[in-house]
Amino acid sequence: MRSTMLKIRLLLLLLAFFLAPRPSLSREPYALRISCGARNDIHSPPRNTLWYKDFSYTGGIPTNATRPSTISPSLETLRYFPFSEGPENCYNINRIPHGHYLVRIYFGLVAEPSFDNEPLFDVSIEGTLIYSLPSGWSNQDDERAYVEALIFLKDGTASLCFHSTGHGDPAILAIEILQIGNRAYYFGRGYGQGTILRTDRRLNCGANDSKFGVDYSADHWGGDRFWKSLQTFELGSARAISTLNGIKKASQSPNFYPEAIYRTALVSSDSEPDLAYTMEVEPTRNYSLWLHFAEIDPSITGAGQRVFDILINGDNMFQDVDIVKMAEGVNSALVLNTTVVVSGRSLTITLRPTKGTGAIINAIELLELVSAESKTFPNEIKALQRLKSTLGLPLRFGWNGDPCVPKQHPWSGVDCQYDRNISKYVIDGLGLDNQGLRGFLPNDVSRFRHLQSINLSGNSISGPIPSSLGTINSLEILDLSFNLFNGSIPESLGQLTSLRILDLNGNSLSGKVPVALGGRLLHGASFNFTDNAGLCGFPGLPPCGAHLSAGAKIGIGLGACLLFLLIVTCLTCWWKRRQNILRSQRIAARVAPYAKARTSLNRDVQMTRNYGHENARTAAENGPSLLALIQIWDLVSKLGMHIHIL
Ligand SMILES: *[C@@H]1O[C@H](CO)[C@@H](O)[C@H](O)[C@H]1NC(C)=O
Ligand SMILES: *[C@@H]1O[C@H](CO)[C@@H](O)[C@H](O)[C@H]1NC(C)=O
Ligand SMILES: *[C@@H]1O[C@H](CO)[C@@H](O)[C@H](O)[C@H]1NC(C)=O
Ligand SMILES: *[C@@H]1O[C@H](CO)[C@@H](O)[C@H](O)[C@H]1NC(C)=O
Ligand SMILES: *[C@@H]1O[C@H](CO)[C@@H](O)[C@H](O)[C@H]1NC(C)=O
Ligand SMILES: *[C@@H]1O[C@H](CO)[C@@H](O)[C@H](O)[C@H]1NC(C)=O
Ligand SMILES: *[C@@H]1O[C@H](CO)[C@@H](O)[C@H](O)[C@H]1NC(C)=O
Ligand SMILES: *[C@@H]1O[C@H](CO)[C@@H](O)[C@H](O)[C@H]1NC(C)=O
Repeated sequence: MRSTMLKIRLLLLLLAFFLAPRPSLSREPYALRISCGARNDIHSPPRNTLWYKDFSYTGGIPTNATRPSTISPSLETLRYFPFSEGPENCYNINRIPHGHYLVRIYFGLVAEPSFDNEPLFDVSIEGTLIYSLPSGWSNQDDERAYVEALIFLKDGTASLCFHSTGHGDPAILAIEILQIGNRAYYFGRGYGQGTILRTDRRLNCGANDSKFGVDYSADHWGGDRFWKSLQTFELGSARAISTLNGIKKASQSPNFYPEAIYRTALVSSDSEPDLAYTMEVEPTRNYSLWLHFAEIDPSITGAGQRVFDILINGDNMFQDVDIVKMAEGVNSALVLNTTVVVSGRSLTITLRPTKGTGAIINAIELLELVSAESKTFPNEIKALQRLKSTLGLPLRFGWNGDPCVPKQHPWSGVDCQYDRNISKYVIDGLGLDNQGLRGFLPNDVSRFRHLQSINLSGNSISGPIPSSLGTINSLEILDLSFNLFNGSIPESLGQLTSLRILDLNGNSLSGKVPVALGGRLLHGASFNFTDNAGLCGFPGLPPCGAHLSAGAKIGIGLGACLLFLLIVTCLTCWWKRRQNILRSQRIAARVAPYAKARTSLNRDVQMTRNYGHENARTAAENGPSLLALIQIWDLVSKLGMHIHIL
């Protein structure tokens, strides 16, 4: 009975397993839309798109927006980042599933007359500089109203940063993070996490209007791309044609292009068979070029009737392109892609017929290949963030995003170095001198494993010097002068074998300077301990125990008396011995047989003298007199301590 019940349950479980919905590409892609500066979540016309409010994603100031372009989403607010909040400001978006994303950032203009129109700034995604807004962006063509990049997000977060360049405050209208296929825009070698594709433009040839994918009811996995209409080419009197027929092979993996972009095209006229189009590009960059074709001209009915070469900047990239043959029929999509290295400021596409009638093109996509930056070692970012809070770093520092990248915009006061071993940036210097800092140095400052130099001179940092500083083996320069540090100098600083400069002057430090530091003096290290509350036990400082209790003073007094007695006794002994020798010499001078013995004695004395002299000279050369001094200091201070304990 029980066993049949068990079997039934097992069967049900198995059934449930097989009937359970399985994740597949047909599921909806992840999509997050943010309306910057909005107080509430918003649904925007015309398609009731949901935009989340941006509360808690970032700093900055929310205000009313002017949309610079007709393609900007119809949102009323934006967020801007005044320079007083630091040169780097970011949106940090968490809990993004691993995947490939189209990230789009719309720019806005602050709707206040007092604001300088059109801020110019740099945009980075995940530490990689993607775009620098060109002047005139707000009154040029539509595509300049946003920046778009295709990027793999693997660590569950997206960091979108805006870097001031001194031309107005960055102002952000909206952000879209839309998942796309893992092989979307696969262009061959170099594709993957090391490369980010920035969309330069998408042109829908022969279309009357510019449209988003959503306007074409495109597949959501396409990332709702914007297609700008292009109605003519400058060379050849190109003619726009269109069709209402369905297009085969259009909305296919991995890119899911909207069918509509193939329903229009530009074809060459009879008088001028070549088609040519020139785009302005950034010099010495690499681009991925995607060309779209579908034979929609009713006059072409089969293979071999229209064959052309495709030249990019004069180089023949595709020879004898026969759309009907390659796409296996008319009204069927063909996509060709190639990587272009441009040296000049322009990229020209030429379609040159080789057989049959003229050329045709339906759409063009140009994407810039951007090498993804390595990021900073996460442990050291955490250490900097902790420092930011314990030192109460002023707002103007910013310190948002990644400390080292983009390389053009590192955090101020932070020096970075690329560590090939871990393929990450590490922090090798902190220079926060004279910045009006308060607060304290946290003990986990030792998380900076690669620091060579720290300068916090001229602030108001208080509390103890963390002993963990002694574990940063690479530290060469430690300047904490003119602060309010108190307590004693941690013994651990003596372990810093690379230390060259230690400036602790102008604090409230007290107690004994670590003896081990004395060893560094021999290697030419420079120390400054002056102007403190009561440091002792180092050359140039008073010996420790100078301010002792009455009991200790009596102890020292007694010790001194004993020492004096000892010296007096020794001197007396020596004098007496000498008198004896002199007397015996006088006797020997009178008695001849003793003469030989006298000379040998004289030689002995001389040899001892020479030997002693030699010793002193080598000692002076090696400089241990200093060491001896330190040792005596140490001895005296230990004596003081012992007496104190007594
Ligand atoms: C934004 O505009 C609304 C009216 O549309 C107004 O009530 C509000 O005060 C404006 N906010 C700012 C910061 O100017
Ligand atoms: C782009 O072209 C490369 C060869 O140049 C090809 O391997 C790749 O499959 C093409 N990508 C797509 C999505 O067709
Ligand atoms: C574009 O507009 C012209 C003139 O209004 C019209 O003849 C043509 O059909 C339109 N094309 C498309 C694709 O709608
Ligand atoms: C462009 O690609 C070439 C190799 O094809 C590479 O050597 C060069 O560094 C790339 N340039 C940029 C700016 O990415
Ligand atoms: C990198 O690794 C090599 C050998 O593994 C080592 O000698 C070198 O010190 C390391 N460099 C850094 C910066 O850690
Ligand atoms: C630290 O900064 C101060 C103030 O700018 C400067 O005078 C000092 O030389 C710096 N210390 C070192 C060790 O470079
Ligand atoms: C250091 O100063 C703080 C107050 O600023 C005080 O609480 C602490 O006891 C002092 N430490 C020492 C060792 O004097
Ligand atoms: C140490 O610092 C003091 C100021 O606190 C300065 O006057 C002195 O010259 C410095 N000594 C050395 C050796 O640099």
